[in-house]
Amino acid sequence: QQQDEKESMFMVSKYTAQWFHDQLKTGEGKAVGYSYFKERGFSDETIEFFQLGYSPDNWSALTDAAIKAGYKLEFLEKTGLTIVKEDKQFDRFKGRVMFPIRSMSGRVLGFGGRILDSSKKAAKYLNSPQSEIYDKSKVLYGIYEAKQAIAKEDLCYLVEGYTDVIQLYQAGVQNVVSSSGTALTTDQIRLISRLTKNITVLYDGDAAGMRAAIRGIDLILEAGMNVRVCTFPEGEDPDSFAKSHTQSEIQEFLSENAVDFIRFKSSLLKDEAAGDPIKKASMIREIVQSIAKIPDDISREIFVRESAEILEIGEDVLFSTLAQVRNASV
Ligand code: CTP
Ligand code: MN
Ligand code: MN
Ligand code: MN
Ligand code: MN
Repeated sequence: QQQDEKESMFMVSKYTAQWFHDQLKTGEGKAVGYSYFKERGFSDETIEFFQLGYSPDNWSALTDAAIKAGYKLEFLEKTGLTIVKEDKQFDRFKGRVMFPIRSMSGRVLGFGGRILDSSKKAAKYLNSPQSEIYDKSKVLYGIYEAKQAIAKEDLCYLVEGYTDVIQLYQAGVQNVVSSSGTALTTDQIRLISRLTKNITVLYDGDAAGMRAAIRGIDLILEAGMNVRVCTFPEGEDPDSFAKSHTQSEIQEFLSENAVDFIRFKSSLLKDEAAGDPIKKASMIREIVQSIAKIPDDISREIFVRESAEILEIGEDVLFSTLAQVRNASV
């Protein structure tokens, strides 16, 4: 019974992804949605590959079409595609360009929808609500499209947004997924760990991106995985950077700027700590706190030795700080 219900939700989601996608070919969808994606620099091939789409700026265009095609309102409502209020039906995503979100095996689980005009008061992105088939803490945008490349490269790039995934993929960096605005979770890391143990975080070059990277690092280390961070210039994200650079410039930037978490954290804190012993001590603690999350004894030891070198401080001090931190957290 419950399985049947989920199956019906999958079916209407699949239908909807294709319907949104088909809108790009005619009328309003072509004039507004397709041209939006073109302005962002997405090729026809990219639009096809990610099955990008458009939800018309009309109260119930999708709902009407789906019902006419034989899908039940019940499942349109359960997936959040239709909002039912006082016997009236409204399309959740009206007037937005659409990004279908897939499971590892390629089933459409939900959608992200972006408004076309960022100056409008509405939230820039609207996502499918939590449902029996969509749990935002358990999905990664792009995982289906990227999984082979992630396994082949033995590396997963982690970005913030839908367009970061798409723009990088188009630029030839195909091993990339996004947690899409939610703070990274252990479930999402577990999905990646089925494909590789190596993650490079590519968050936006702003304060929020930095904070998210710091938090993400510890979660990835706790999962026993390797983490590197590549910081973008202030105000840039992987999408804007990739759009304004050539493929080889992007490759070069990623390989030259990705550093391990110790170098990332120490470079963030270095300027502050210069010449101030108290600040330097707290920076050391910050770094040791991340090292303490690593489950493997040998890896911890290797990172302590590396930190000693980078921070110009004795190994024994670091080992004793590590012991303190680890005892405190048990
Ligand atoms: N996000 C969201 N809801 C919002 C804003 C953001 O769900 N109101 C999610 C989206 O998945 C978005 C990601 O967080 O892709 C990163 O946010 P942000 O950096 O603000 O957006 P961009 O991806 O850079 O979007 P764009 O380039 O289209 O402006
Ligand atoms: Mn098509
Ligand atoms: Mn951002
Ligand atoms: Mn961004
Ligand atoms: Mn962006």
